[in-house]
Amino acid sequence: TSTSTHHTKHHSRWSDKQSKVLGHLAEEFTLSTAQLEHLATAFIGQMQSGLAGDQKSSDLAMIPTFVSGRPDGHERGSYLALDLGGTNLRVCLITLKGNNDLESNSKAFKVSDHLQEAHISELMDFIAISIKEFITSEHISAKIVEHPSDSETLELGFTFSFPVTQTAIDAGMLLRWTKGFNCPGAVGNDIVQLLQEALNRNEVNVHVAALVNDTVGTLLAHSYKHPNTFIGAIFGTGTNGAYVEDTRSIKTMSTPTADEMIINIEWGNFDKDKRFLPVTIFDNKLDRESINPGVHVFEKMISGMYLGEITRNILLHLIDQRLLFDGTSSTKLNTHWSFETKYMSQIENDNSATLIPIAQILEQELGIYLNTQVDREIVKFVCQLVGKRAARLSAMATAAVIRKGLSVEGRLAGHGYPLKLSEGDHVFGAGVNKHGTMVRERTDSAVDHRDNVQPIHVGIDGSVFEHYPHFEEHMVEGLTELLGSRSKDIVALGIAR
Ligand code: GLC
Repeated sequence: TSTSTHHTKHHSRWSDKQSKVLGHLAEEFTLSTAQLEHLATAFIGQMQSGLAGDQKSSDLAMIPTFVSGRPDGHERGSYLALDLGGTNLRVCLITLKGNNDLESNSKAFKVSDHLQEAHISELMDFIAISIKEFITSEHISAKIVEHPSDSETLELGFTFSFPVTQTAIDAGMLLRWTKGFNCPGAVGNDIVQLLQEALNRNEVNVHVAALVNDTVGTLLAHSYKHPNTFIGAIFGTGTNGAYVEDTRSIKTMSTPTADEMIINIEWGNFDKDKRFLPVTIFDNKLDRESINPGVHVFEKMISGMYLGEITRNILLHLIDQRLLFDGTSSTKLNTHWSFETKYMSQIENDNSATLIPIAQILEQELGIYLNTQVDREIVKFVCQLVGKRAARLSAMATAAVIRKGLSVEGRLAGHGYPLKLSEGDHVFGAGVNKHGTMVRERTDSAVDHRDNVQPIHVGIDGSVFEHYPHFEEHMVEGLTELLGSRSKDIVALGIAR
């Protein structure tokens, strides 16, 4: 095939068997535009059945968040924010200054492996005590008095990065744990109540006012600086997205009280039955051996918690065929989850001729002392395949959400997203008039965007997007394939900070 010839050309020192096996691997991990198209269509289908409450046919939870407005940068005041979802708990004091600008102080507390699987009351006590420590050490009460919001009590917004079905902005039940967490006593219970009880138990005078997913928090934070923000996405330890939906499309909510509401997609669970995703034996092995087999299969192909483990599985497969490290592994490399995604970033960052920095990682972190330059080239090649596939799948999900948002009739009218496309462009699947302009006017006509292209902003957070080499570049490439050449002017990816 063209893929394997291509790779053989670049790696003339690879043996025939190496070229053959790696060429095959490259084919499995390389997703064509057509494959991405197919996945995007399935993705939109699952979004629609999720919104319709069709539990049987949908893997996407499509959770209404009860957040029906977005900030526009004029809001002022101070509040506490809490962020739990990965290896760190972050407690922050945020001060909104009212001019699209904000200030934040924060402190991180490590959530130990023990706590990630301890009883929920132990985890909540840890959170309450951390908040207490932050408030005391940062003299928070005094700072809040300097920048008072409407209420004088310490109000807290809780960013909890797991699937929660909400019944109000300050109430919601945990659906399931994801990523590395598995604390008994939480699934099916109200997370706000559990935290409020722990705060009371530990005499911390704070009121939990809102519960949001990290994707929702990211969307809101980005809106404060870029009011045209339509999507919030995370590519970190896990992956997920949230977007602004027309409440008339949300069949799972009985009486909509607003025009729009943010939906937490929980896209990590896309296609959990593996009907569309091009899963490999390496993905299946990882899934089977994870603490939550059969769920969040999509997330397991994309996010930082898993990419290293996929790579480790591939490396072992090559070692077992004597195509790598002369057939010798190490105790460390044989250990589950020992190959961190961080190493992949470092490996892909090594552009030296001899790849000595890669040798250092292999030796120091993984105990692989005998590695040739060909070995190191192969390791880098494998990382590139896994990393690029993740970025292209991320682009697919993002493009699907944009298309879904824009293809619903009347969607976004009045939300101020003027788009200027060329006639005949099928970008977003939306109709473009013969002037090549699709105008979405603001009802307040404060600004007439008619002649300007106003990009749709996507607020993004997460270590993979921020630090993984070429991740953003590969994502933008995928978006262009799916949304057309104008997508670079229309969709602005930005880190939400
Ligand atoms: C997992 C969680 C989801 C979260 C995402 C990113 O997918 O289920 O709620 O948004 O990780 O942190």
